[in-house]
Amino acid sequence: MLYGADYNPDQWPEEVWPDDVRLMREAGVTTVSLGIFAWSRIQPAPGAWDFAWLDRIIDLLHEGGIAVNLATATASPPPWMTTAHPDALAADEHGAPYWHGSRQHHSPASPTWRRLAAELVRRLAERYADHPAVVMWHVDNELGCHLHEDFSDAARDAFRTWTRARYGSVERLNEAWGTAFWSQRYGSFDEVFPPRKAPFIRNPAHVLDYKRFMSDTWLEVYLMQRDIIRAAGATQPISTNMMGAFPPADYASWAPHIDVITDDCYPDPLDPARPLTTAFQRDLVRSLKRGQPWILMEQATDAVNWRATNPSKMPGQLAAETAQSIGRGADGIMFFQWRQSRAGAEKFHSAMLPQAGTRTRTWREAVALGERLAALGDLPSPGDDAPVALVFDWENWWAVEGEGHPMTVDYLQVVRDWHAALTRRGIMVDVVPPERVDGRYRLAIAPFLYLLREAGAEALARFVAHGGVLAAGPFTDVVDDNDRFREGGFLTQLGPVLGVAFEDFRALVPPDRATVAERAGEVGSAAAGASDERAFARFAGGIAGAGTILAEAIWADDAEVVAAYETGPSTGRPAVTRRAHGDGSAWYLATQPSPETLGAVLDALIADAGVRPELDEVPEGVEVARRGDLVTIINHGTEPARVEAEGTLLGSDEPFGARTLAPQEFAFVLAPREPAPARADLPLEARA
Ligand code: GAL
Repeated sequence: MLYGADYNPDQWPEEVWPDDVRLMREAGVTTVSLGIFAWSRIQPAPGAWDFAWLDRIIDLLHEGGIAVNLATATASPPPWMTTAHPDALAADEHGAPYWHGSRQHHSPASPTWRRLAAELVRRLAERYADHPAVVMWHVDNELGCHLHEDFSDAARDAFRTWTRARYGSVERLNEAWGTAFWSQRYGSFDEVFPPRKAPFIRNPAHVLDYKRFMSDTWLEVYLMQRDIIRAAGATQPISTNMMGAFPPADYASWAPHIDVITDDCYPDPLDPARPLTTAFQRDLVRSLKRGQPWILMEQATDAVNWRATNPSKMPGQLAAETAQSIGRGADGIMFFQWRQSRAGAEKFHSAMLPQAGTRTRTWREAVALGERLAALGDLPSPGDDAPVALVFDWENWWAVEGEGHPMTVDYLQVVRDWHAALTRRGIMVDVVPPERVDGRYRLAIAPFLYLLREAGAEALARFVAHGGVLAAGPFTDVVDDNDRFREGGFLTQLGPVLGVAFEDFRALVPPDRATVAERAGEVGSAAAGASDERAFARFAGGIAGAGTILAEAIWADDAEVVAAYETGPSTGRPAVTRRAHGDGSAWYLATQPSPETLGAVLDALIADAGVRPELDEVPEGVEVARRGDLVTIINHGTEPARVEAEGTLLGSDEPFGARTLAPQEFAFVLAPREPAPARADLPLEARA
């Protein structure tokens, strides 16, 4: 178990360093991420290099028994660089540059920045590849964090190269992007630009490809640095810190190139669903490399400083959040940062060692946590713990939230709503793209899978054919990889598996939006909420509930109608269908169940799939997660919670039995999993 923080000794006089190492030992720190923003200290001027200070601090840490996750220091180029080379600057959608004075102002596509960054990384790697303190490499920092999109000339040139490689000829690009529409036909790749500021809706296929390009560009930066580090003979694992469901980076496509997944997570103390939101993030990052532990590379010991209001954590919250990460697969717990900065944009950000010193609650909690983690010993690797696959796909995220659609949808929120309902029931979930849905799962849920690649559709069909239970929809299987309708209508790939055919989308009005007609009647007054009938489509039958966002009109040609709409634009039509297929079944949800009624739909799905929760009873506010034989139970609530569980407390023979967990209290329980019954052995009523 790694324990430690980002360490920025370049912000401090050297006299402080021995004190740092002494206090790190006191706090149980095993590892620090070193020098993440140290470029201007290492290379104070073009051609001038200063590694002596870095040699000294690495040696000092090593003597103190502290390992180093050595950063490549490329995330904030020094002012000399962008002054001398303005072509290294990134630009916004107007083409206006971002300037130095903060961080991450460079264009990741700029050949100048890449050349200078490559030299820095090469020198670092050659110097420290064999240093016994260095246990890992930290490439750049949160690639893309502040720069989701770059419209610089360097990005323009790289985008042309990217589109040329993807399409080969401009005719193919025209076909893929549907440029016959609005006179957008390109005569050559030299006419292609990143989708800069435009008067109206931009070509969706162009925008989608540009998002792919940006994600690929950041990945290229990672690969460039990884290759340099390896070429220098380094054998340590290499990683770059991710940010959970971070919109611009398709981490699922990055993961195969990264030795160990590392993630940064800053729960919002004002988010009422905080423990569920973070459970989703941990599951997402764990699922990137199934069966492998990951490292929490950054969290805050206490308050952050970059939201509008930054309250402290509750007493015990830090430990409870840490337990959640471990329970969901983390083998390293690290912070931003070791010692609170005295100057600069983040001086109010918490750290392990606060500006107010060691008499603080934060310090005591950091020390106590270090002791607790050191006592854990070896933990089982996360394995085949999740019976449910929740489909989440970045390309689809980019496409489904595009402009010019029947409605808007917050895709991440919908996926999180499903995840939250599963998590509340104590069911483990992997969060994966459709291609990764396989026979290890019993249930797969795929909402709003608008852009469905052929390989994804094939995997989902195979899953059902082999006995899995699939719940797809709504707004699923609508377009191909280029955001074009496929030939033959909608649900062209999954329709035969689901036994349904598609007529129309029929958007519902978001509950907080007035319709134009309603507003017209209320000029001068605050916009009224949409009437219930326009916002919700109620359905009943085998399951009852209320649909939101869309009330699609479908035909259940070869499927059983589980529930039909009782209100809304598709009244009388099927709302939920099920087609049995051998041991498996395929459900179509023609509407998105409201958060209040999603549970009823989910209960039917988990019964059909024979999925069982980790505990029979999961009280409100309590989280249960499995990691191999280790079950983590956490009370995130504000009231004590009574929990009953089989198994013994980790590190002792004491049975957990039935206990009351105080708010923020948690327990690690060893409880070998009983093998789940084969689906065919379940009584029929439990399956349907
Ligand atoms: C992260 C970043 C750190 C620090 C931290 C503050 O995004 O990687 O360098 O800025 O946020 O919360």
